[in-house]
Amino acid sequence: MALLRRKSKAEPCISLVPLLVTTVTTPPAELHVVRTAIEEAGYTIIGTPYDAVDLAEDRERFAGLLRAHGLRPPAWAMAESGADAIRVANEIGYPVLIRPSYVLGGRSMRVCYTDEAVAQVPVHGRVLVDRFLENAVEVDVDALCDGTETYIAAIMQHVEEAGVHSGDSACVLPAPGLSPAQTEEIQRTVRILGRSLGVVGLLNVQLALTGDGEVYVIEANPRASRTVPFVSKATGVQLVAAACRISAGATIRELGLPPERPPRQWSVKAAVLPFARFPGSDPVLGPEMRSTGEVMASAADLPTAFAKAERAAGRALPRSGSVFLSIRPAEKMASVPIAATLLGLGFKLLATHGTAETLAAAGLEVEPVRKLSEAVDDEPTVVDLIRRGRCDLVINTPEGQNARSDGYAIREAALSRRVPCITTMSGAAAAVHAIANARAEEAKSLQERIDAETRTA
Ligand SMILES: Nc1ncnc2c1ncn2[C@@H]1O[C@H](COP(=O)(O)OP(=O)(O)O)[C@@H](O)[C@H]1O
Ligand SMILES: [Mg+2]
Repeated sequence: MALLRRKSKAEPCISLVPLLVTTVTTPPAELHVVRTAIEEAGYTIIGTPYDAVDLAEDRERFAGLLRAHGLRPPAWAMAESGADAIRVANEIGYPVLIRPSYVLGGRSMRVCYTDEAVAQVPVHGRVLVDRFLENAVEVDVDALCDGTETYIAAIMQHVEEAGVHSGDSACVLPAPGLSPAQTEEIQRTVRILGRSLGVVGLLNVQLALTGDGEVYVIEANPRASRTVPFVSKATGVQLVAAACRISAGATIRELGLPPERPPRQWSVKAAVLPFARFPGSDPVLGPEMRSTGEVMASAADLPTAFAKAERAAGRALPRSGSVFLSIRPAEKMASVPIAATLLGLGFKLLATHGTAETLAAAGLEVEPVRKLSEAVDDEPTVVDLIRRGRCDLVINTPEGQNARSDGYAIREAALSRRVPCITTMSGAAAAVHAIANARAEEAKSLQERIDAETRTA
């Protein structure tokens, strides 16, 4: 979509025109053709200038802009061929994330830990190689900018770590895990980006916060993001209306927006994932976006909002029954407190042998179950148990995405039986916290929530 203003008329006529190209997925040369055609027809594009999209999307130009302002992207370089990608990956250091430029939804993105993995990535033309930030907290920011001043509408924290596409991860508003210093650094970064990109309208910025306290800019999108409706409903600030007025010439000050502050109520956006409709698909989350929709829920506390959002997304969390755990080696220890909480809540624990050993060594009562590849006559495997309805929740953090792996068979069984299946430790921690603490809540309309949110304290 583009907002166009007719040049020749004294009274400007503004039209909203759906363009057949999207700015993000279209290379600059083709965009230039569209822009020229629009101008020759007697219109100008109003709002964020066309060049801001190229500045944000062209990695070399964007990195230059970040450098000029002392901001940091994850270490990166371009590669021209498969062999070059391996050389670059070794220079940057593993793990790396490889992707083509000008893509949307994380399409064709691959996380690689070894030369062999990089060698399997098809390289057509130039690809971007990024240092993949492990265990980083991902943050999404939606803001308005009038070319000079930036209004930060929301800082959202993803439930799953960076590496799960922002379209697939659950996200929480206000961000529960940010220190005041991190919040300040995020705000400073977004204001610099708004001004230096020259955004006139909406701006979305994605950032990753690593354990050592660094704030990295993953990307800036000088346009409306998918979180805009979520933020508008959670905060009561109509971002689209405000952005249209800014595009038409109003300043942030003239809009009289409420003060920037985290909302009082908790809101959670959860992805609606289509796996159940595609028999044989693997519900593992990664940098390639797979969601087909999203839901939101708000409540007075985070666990209640999270439980409501999961229920609305079709993955209602169980309150009792059996939980099956199969955790990759690097995360086995981290699964102990989660399993202990579940046991304390009265759940029965089932686990594959390796996971069961870790949990039993920590003093937890757990029943080991055979994987499909360990099947012996008569004894049910985990897949049999899931199919027979003996599991109410599956927590499986996969080692890789091998379609023949046991993990795949477990996740596939959970999907076909419609058992909620969680594939990240962060997602599992949020779910267990919600199971333990969600409260029955009085139903409220969105209007009642927004009234409560915007009422001045
Ligand atoms: N360097 C990185 N380290 C870790 N995760 C990353 C990195 N870059 C991107 N990601 C993950 O991949 C997802 C998609 O990348 P992004 O640059 O936002 O592309 P898109 O244009 O598809 O939104 C992000 O939401 C984030 O979870
Ligand atoms: Mg993104």
